[in-house]
Amino acid sequence: MTEKNQTVISEFVLLGLPIYPDQRDLFYALFLAMYVTTILGNLLIIVLIHLDSHLHTPMYWFLSNLSFSDICFSSVTIPKLLQTMQSQDLSIPYAGCLTQMYFFLFFADLESFLLVAMAYDRYVAICFPLHYTTIMSPKLCLSLVVLSWVLTMFHAMLHTLLMARLWFCADNTIPHFFCDMSALLKLACSDTRVNELVIFIMGGLILVTPFLLIIMSYARIVSSILKVPSAKGIHKAFSTCGSHLSVVSLFYGTVIGLYLCPSTNNSTVKETVMAMMYTVVTPMLNPFIYSLRNRDMKGALGRVLFKKKTSFLV
Ligand SMILES: *[C@@H]1O[C@H](CO)[C@@H](O)[C@H](O)[C@H]1NC(C)=O
Repeated sequence: MTEKNQTVISEFVLLGLPIYPDQRDLFYALFLAMYVTTILGNLLIIVLIHLDSHLHTPMYWFLSNLSFSDICFSSVTIPKLLQTMQSQDLSIPYAGCLTQMYFFLFFADLESFLLVAMAYDRYVAICFPLHYTTIMSPKLCLSLVVLSWVLTMFHAMLHTLLMARLWFCADNTIPHFFCDMSALLKLACSDTRVNELVIFIMGGLILVTPFLLIIMSYARIVSSILKVPSAKGIHKAFSTCGSHLSVVSLFYGTVIGLYLCPSTNNSTVKETVMAMMYTVVTPMLNPFIYSLRNRDMKGALGRVLFKKKTSFLV
């Protein structure tokens, strides 16, 4: 807009969380504990799935991919948050900020695509149980995973390149704990209409399409159960879909709450709390949702631990 205060910004300042200084240590300990839980819980899932041959099925390969993506997703924001909470230096270099934005988008999208792949897997498992192994071949699973990676790579790159062409003037203070795309757009001095249009269109495609696909596959699952209602069928559907459905609700619940219900007053605090939900809480809860409610996972844990113990004894 104005030519004269168009200084080139080399770094941003992340204001972090809206908390009082005397609460900082408490929150620091809390987030550190949550981060460590996220890493350990998800690592445990990946290790279990790789070690136990009973879990070498498409559903668990996708789950292992989801856990990997959870670890990366929380590692994009939380270590930086913990670092800024402890030091006085709140700055983040311009390139670091864009890199963080890129990987944040990347792993958030990846999660969304993996949830679709898992929903499709459940749909095939329940609606075509006899053809399950032929339809969900290792080749198809790998293609779905690779496709998710490629699509998210392009999507995150598109937003990052569009962000890189913007000018930032004097104000470089981000009222957030990571380089959030919408927070950065608010700081930009140049015209952000193209960015907003792309966010609107791609956001619709990337968030709404997977959500609709998941709803569709669950609608098919429910209708196939209702066609032949049996206690056994309902139990099977609940036991295999329950965990996935909980993760889906957690993920889309927070995202939809954030983007579809914008509030005018106090929006910074609300945005931060919601962002906290999906960057810290969701990745931490995923392993618990899967392992606590799931008999296969518990069995695998028992088998892996028992095998360790017997090999010790021998
Ligand atoms: C992700 O899924 C693919 C395809 O099923 C599998 O080969 C790969 O090992 C998985 N990755 C992880 C980290 O589990």
